[in-house]
Amino acid sequence: AINSGNTFRVASPLSNVTSELADIDWDNLGFGFMPTDYMYIMKCAQGENFSKGELQRFGNIELCPSAGILNYGQGLFEGLKAYRKHDGNILLFRPEENATRLMMGAERMCMPSPSVEQFVEAVKATVLANERWIPPPGKGSLYIRPLLMGSGAVLGLAPAPEYTFLIYVSPVGNYFKEGLAPINLVVETEMHRATPGGTGGVKTIGNYAAVLKAQSAAKAKGYSDVLYLDSFQKRYLEEVSSCNVFIVKVEERQVSVDELLDADEVFCTGTAVVVSPVGSITHQGRRVTYGNDGVGLVSQQLYSALTSLQMGLSEDKMGWIVEL
Ligand code: COI
Repeated sequence: AINSGNTFRVASPLSNVTSELADIDWDNLGFGFMPTDYMYIMKCAQGENFSKGELQRFGNIELCPSAGILNYGQGLFEGLKAYRKHDGNILLFRPEENATRLMMGAERMCMPSPSVEQFVEAVKATVLANERWIPPPGKGSLYIRPLLMGSGAVLGLAPAPEYTFLIYVSPVGNYFKEGLAPINLVVETEMHRATPGGTGGVKTIGNYAAVLKAQSAAKAKGYSDVLYLDSFQKRYLEEVSSCNVFIVKVEERQVSVDELLDADEVFCTGTAVVVSPVGSITHQGRRVTYGNDGVGLVSQQLYSALTSLQMGLSEDKMGWIVEL
């Protein structure tokens, strides 16, 4: 690694940056933003490919008020996590899957995208440069937030002339304030997260702004989050604002809200939420509870299997772990 002024260039192959842990309260991490040391930035012009990025000191970025992302929402984000193992090694979980999803989203949003290799190398470099912010084993993880945005100026509606791929990181603990205890969801029947032909299938930033109204109203009433139904028949489950939802039945198909209310166990999944058991769902004033105030068996088993794999405590039979 070559440190020149406030720009930290990482030579290839990546060298391991050893550092002391940051001086923060590792026992009380929630899911809030905390500035760290470095961010990764790579730019390219429209019609070209990303070629070379660099680590920079973490800080605010400058954008023209007319940037595509600010005016027309031309942007995507990703989320993945790095874990510190007891032996000090650092693990990533399937980073190439995030890279592939970003590429698919970029195609939908008319943006160039980093290659899978560029994405994974940039993630590794950012994690290593911020190594002192990776929580000790068992205390949480380093949440990695890649962004892809139209950073060039536009006025008329069109793809931006320049794109920025940026990665920043923040140490995190549990996503919901309930911690690992079951969460309470409410079904939303008026507002929708996705529409046929829309952008619900990609991780564009506007999908998330669109649910803030329903999410804020639900939180004000004491719910943990909102479960959305399809916009056409208003009957089938889609997603929760911040995560996916599963009911205990191993089938991949449309699930109606009536079946949901009949389920034995319900849980949410996502990079941020990991596996969160659902304790209740309220739909049109009817509240159905699951798991007798405890964590359901399947949720518990999946949570343990996933986190022990991500933390390097169990054998990686699928080849999903990338060790830095
Ligand atoms: C993630 O799990 O990384 C997400 O996209 C959730 C985000 C809304 C915090």
